[in-house]
Amino acid sequence: MNIVVSNVKGGVGKTTTSVYLSAAAVERGWDPVLLIDADRQASSAEWMEESPVEGVGLVEAPSERTVTRAMSGHAGFAVIDTPPGDERIVRAALDRADAVVIPTRAGGVEYSRVAATLDMIGDKTPYGVVICSARLGTNDLDEAIGWWTESKVPIWGIVPERVGIAAGPEARLSRDGLEVYTAILKRAVRKRSI
Ligand SMILES: Nc1ncnc2c1ncn2[C@@H]1O[C@H](COP(=O)(O)OP(=O)(O)OP(=O)(O)O)[C@@H](O)[C@H]1O
Ligand SMILES: [Mg+2]
Repeated sequence: MNIVVSNVKGGVGKTTTSVYLSAAAVERGWDPVLLIDADRQASSAEWMEESPVEGVGLVEAPSERTVTRAMSGHAGFAVIDTPPGDERIVRAALDRADAVVIPTRAGGVEYSRVAATLDMIGDKTPYGVVICSARLGTNDLDEAIGWWTESKVPIWGIVPERVGIAAGPEARLSRDGLEVYTAILKRAVRKRSI
């Protein structure tokens, strides 16, 4: 199982989502669980060095060739963190995805970037958006939910803005965050929307 976390836009929550989804996969009993970092910035790799997550193995694969090899060469559960810009690596990962999780933010400029990401996903590959760092009860969030619903893009999760999540590798993974991401993982595996 290869779950690719992708959005051509930067800074939306790809790395945070990838780390939490891999930790959630361990909690759900998957074994082995790999976090494949296809981003040259190596943010997932640095996170795992600073704060390893028990049961998650890290593979650095910042090229088309290495990401292809990493994704086809395992028999477990892999989460693939992708770079914001490098379209060739992103395409290589998306081509081999069993499901695609698209982190996004509430706010108008997000839609066109997600559309660009959707264009690269194969017809038969399931996908869903995850609204990251969401401020519950705001108009921005309600509008984003309305937009994705009207556009028939499945919403797989809404992750509230949390200090514990924003702390990244400097703190332990937040319990709240793990719960939300566990629900997202289940949807990605079963391809159901909220
Ligand atoms: N639920 C959340 N609550 C608070 N902060 C969050 C949440 N999710 C992500 N963030 C913060 O948003 C910022 C961007 O997140 P992240 O690095 O995961 O994005 P990215 O898409 O991987 O970025 P890049 O495109 O540079 O790889 C980080 O500072 C992260 O801590
Ligand atoms: Mg990142």
